[in-house]
Amino acid sequence: MFKKSLLAVAAASMLTLTACGGTAGAGSAAGTSGGDKITMGFAQVGAESGWRTANTKSVQDSAKKAGVDLKFSDAQQKQENQIKAIRSYIQQKVDVIAFSPVVESGWDTVLKEAKNAKIPVILTDRAVDSSDKTLYKTFLGSDFVEEGKKAGDWLVKESKSSTDTVNIVEIQGTTGSAPANDRKEGFAEAIKADPKLKIVASQSGDFTRSGGKQVMEAFLKNNADIDVVFAHNDDEGLGAIEAIEAAGKVPGKDIKIITIDAVKDGMTALSNGKINYIVECSPMLGDQLMDLAKKVIAGETVPERVVTEETTFTQEQAKQVLASRPY
Ligand code: AHR
Repeated sequence: MFKKSLLAVAAASMLTLTACGGTAGAGSAAGTSGGDKITMGFAQVGAESGWRTANTKSVQDSAKKAGVDLKFSDAQQKQENQIKAIRSYIQQKVDVIAFSPVVESGWDTVLKEAKNAKIPVILTDRAVDSSDKTLYKTFLGSDFVEEGKKAGDWLVKESKSSTDTVNIVEIQGTTGSAPANDRKEGFAEAIKADPKLKIVASQSGDFTRSGGKQVMEAFLKNNADIDVVFAHNDDEGLGAIEAIEAAGKVPGKDIKIITIDAVKDGMTALSNGKINYIVECSPMLGDQLMDLAKKVIAGETVPERVVTEETTFTQEQAKQVLASRPY
């Protein structure tokens, strides 16, 4: 167990510092000294999307690079599975727990158990709605409200020249998840700027391609006149494309599509003209997560919130960067 040896290393280095008269701090990050490995328990949401697969790879690759012993679990999009995984990490006395909460609420009890066991928790990718901020050390991930706003701002600009009503259907992410709640909020806020932009239907596709397809099929049956799809992730947008094509319409032309993520398949559809605009959400959180974990374990102060840097892509921009996208 790392903590005991950290104490030993700390005691030893205090002795060294006393003898040399130096200053504390340097080289104290866990896993980088003393040969002891940090053990991290990572409770992943699932494997619902291309984004999630890239995120899992990023965490696993970065753990290897940083010399962190990673215990990984896949919750298959179920909160109860994540809670079980976290409890098992507490029992195993890991040094740090990181997780990406499936939904925002219902975490206080298990987070209190981790806190009582003195195991620090790092939220990655998604937030919890707990009012007790002492239950976790930091939250690393995207600003999902901002992502929704960027999607809405593009549509406002795009629709400027016309006076016709724009009928929008929204394919939401997993019900109750932070990205679904926040992207919905950000998009709604942005399109308020133009009263002719109207959301005529909104339903969850659970961040999956099959969910996006099913929801879009239902939308097409019930709404004769759809101008725009706002899908909360690329996979849902890709599913919607299949439904639109099956209905004999041309995605990107008859019905415009805006998505979030910018994974390879999404960017390919954008450069082929089937998607019109993508807001980036970066899954490459592994390196930052390992750095934060080392700092937290070493007792260093870390920022409460670390926001991921992200951009947006038009069809032209997608064509330029597609070959060099890492995921
Ligand atoms: O939490 C990030 C979101 O979850 C991504 O946008 C989506 O693709 C994933 O499943």
